[in-house]
Amino acid sequence: MRFSIEAEFASPECVAEHVTVPERRPENRAFVRLNMIASSDGASDVSGLSGALGNPDDKALFAALRGRADAVLVGMSTAVAEHYHAPTGDLQMFVVAPTPDISGDPDLFACDRVTLVLPEDAGPAPEGVRTLRSGRARRVDLASVVAMLAGKVVMMEGGPTLAGLMVAQGLVDELFLTIAPRVLGGRSPRIVHGPDADPAPWDFVHGFLDAPGYLFLRYARPGAPAAS
Ligand SMILES: NC(=O)c1ccc[n+]([C@@H]2O[C@H](COP(=O)([O-])OP(=O)(O)OC[C@H]3O[C@@H](n4cnc5c(N)ncnc54)[C@H](OP(=O)(O)O)[C@@H]3O)[C@@H](O)[C@H]2O)c1
Repeated sequence: MRFSIEAEFASPECVAEHVTVPERRPENRAFVRLNMIASSDGASDVSGLSGALGNPDDKALFAALRGRADAVLVGMSTAVAEHYHAPTGDLQMFVVAPTPDISGDPDLFACDRVTLVLPEDAGPAPEGVRTLRSGRARRVDLASVVAMLAGKVVMMEGGPTLAGLMVAQGLVDELFLTIAPRVLGGRSPRIVHGPDADPAPWDFVHGFLDAPGYLFLRYARPGAPAAS
């Protein structure tokens, strides 16, 4: 079923169906899945935190997506704002930043499965921190990072700035969008913002609505594996 209305919170089967990884994926770059939550009026955070928008089904979806990923890709601002911890199991984490300043979340980088992704000319990283370098002048070359992660399933966890750059460059294959039944007003940015992206409609892949009124949608970029 492509869309279901759940009687209570979503069943594990429904969440599993929602996050199925397409068998056919690109070989020359990573398969990138962006997961974001918005209020019904488009806010991406409450007082600087996206977690405050969520509910148990959103947490289950987040865990299911991480459970099917080889790596997480996230912006430094999000890692700091959301107090990221080292990933569990074999999951790798790549944190994109313009400079080697890890003072916002130093403990995160003590884990050898966490890599700081920096421009080549960004200066030395603190001792012991794993780094991946690409691009120059405060801008990591995101296309080249996605190419370096070829063959991996990557969960892109935002934030909106990094997501905007990646979407505009056609580097995101799928969008998992949770819409929370909250109307917040305020000045929170959209979940994806920055340069203009291709305006072509994305393909609906799967969705569900839970009893508390949270809507879970999965779209594939036209031409991406899940769209065919
Ligand atoms: N609703 C959701 O699902 C969701 C998900 C994640 C986060 N959030 C919220 O979003 C907020 C943070 O988002 P954000 O947009 O400010 O930050 P972000 O996208 O997490 O990260 C932006 C940071 O990454 C750097 N950056 C971006 N592109 C880069 C590149 N190509 N090379 C090197 N560095 C790059 C920026 O550098 P510069 O400073 O040089 O620009 C900036 O420091 C938090 O409040 C968080 O709670 C919401």
